[in-house]
Amino acid sequence: MWPKHAPAGSGQHPPVVCGPRQPTGDLDYHPSVTPPPSLRRLRRVILGIAAAALVAASAPAQAARLVIACGGIGTESEQCRIAADAWARRTGHQVDYFALPRPADERLALIRQLFAAGSNAIDVIAVDVVWPGMLASHLLALTSRIDGIDRHLPAMRDAATVDGRLLAVPWFTDGGVLFYRRDLLERHRRPVPRTWQELTETAALIQRAERAAGHSPFWGYVWQARAYEGLTCNALELITSHGARLFDADGRIAFDSAPARDALTQAASWVGTISPPGVLNYAEEDSRGVFQSGHAVFMRNWPYAWSLAQGEGSPVRGKVGIAPLPHGPGGGSAAALGGRMLAVAAHTREPEAAIDLVRALTAPQEIRRRAIEAGFAPSLPALYGDADVLAANPHFGPLAEVFRQSVARPSALAGERYGQVSAALFTGFHAILAGRIDATRGTAALRATLCRPANPLLAACGAER
Ligand code: GLC
Repeated sequence: MWPKHAPAGSGQHPPVVCGPRQPTGDLDYHPSVTPPPSLRRLRRVILGIAAAALVAASAPAQAARLVIACGGIGTESEQCRIAADAWARRTGHQVDYFALPRPADERLALIRQLFAAGSNAIDVIAVDVVWPGMLASHLLALTSRIDGIDRHLPAMRDAATVDGRLLAVPWFTDGGVLFYRRDLLERHRRPVPRTWQELTETAALIQRAERAAGHSPFWGYVWQARAYEGLTCNALELITSHGARLFDADGRIAFDSAPARDALTQAASWVGTISPPGVLNYAEEDSRGVFQSGHAVFMRNWPYAWSLAQGEGSPVRGKVGIAPLPHGPGGGSAAALGGRMLAVAAHTREPEAAIDLVRALTAPQEIRRRAIEAGFAPSLPALYGDADVLAANPHFGPLAEVFRQSVARPSALAGERYGQVSAALFTGFHAILAGRIDATRGTAALRATLCRPANPLLAACGAER
């Protein structure tokens, strides 16, 4: 049960006020004495000139013009703009925005195309935790240019470092979590599910009851089973939470073990029963649309969905709880490690301004602001003890450990080829979830795709049976 709290923001934010403080009438006159109109005008002119001089003094000798690419899910771009605009007002530099598509793999494809074409359209880029290995040759090394990097979660620092070079600075972390309708669990006297079996049963029971009461469409569980990067995350969580793994410690394929196949078979059985058939085409925002409009009891998503579900006008405001994802027999709850970091393009003509922008956007007070106003999970463990962060996100306390222990996708294992490896994984898993092939034959086919003799995608393929 989570305490009630004020809405943490729904995409509507007051403008950030930056720059020199505007003078008020109380500064240089006694409040009881009102100066004559002519004097008031003169005073405004003088103060205006003084304010302009202050801005000019703090503006850099030469203002830089930067382009930042920072789109993503939910309120990500909006939050990025709030902070980058504030930096621009404070420093006198200019920031323009490069719009990116929502799905992570489409975002990556666009960035890679730009880099491959030698374009210098972007100076600062919001990179997914799984990207640095793929983009390494196009990113500026930030080693020794950023203070306090040790304060971030070790998993995020690892993801940002390639061959000992720090290529990005953590911005926020992500971990898959279970959103549930507290009111419906109470009404139907069911506990928050701890296992996937419990989730399956409770989802079916509440779905049946709600539909019988005339609430249609209504679904038990919405998640992300579209063939895209998000499915790699969902499948990783399902398989790991059954005590299995995608790859073993030596990089060998492990997703065809019996518990991994059970996890996939169970998830396939949800499609069209407790999950809508359309879940096979759902990304994060599709699931949120169904859950937030009140048409589902459970949702797997990232923490960003919290402040939106709690926002003004949300039909489920005050009715939502968050818990660790359930687990299967022989496993424990598992959250995929997600998140974003900020990197500087190697080709930038303004490296100093670009690094300064990255510093500003990843400063502890800015990470704290994003957590409070928009629910993004901080990459700084210290903020999980911050009273204001916890008041806006009561689930961060109990989930701090989930984020700390989140499971990385095989990006370090696959290096530059992660994009191809992940595409093979989500395509193979999607076929199983869609019922086009069973888990035994589907995982065997996926193994064959990853280890094609002509072009094996993994170093450990040679060691495969
Ligand atoms: C979230 C995660 C990101 C992941 C993506 C998949 O944005 O932060 O790491 O790649 O979802 O859809």
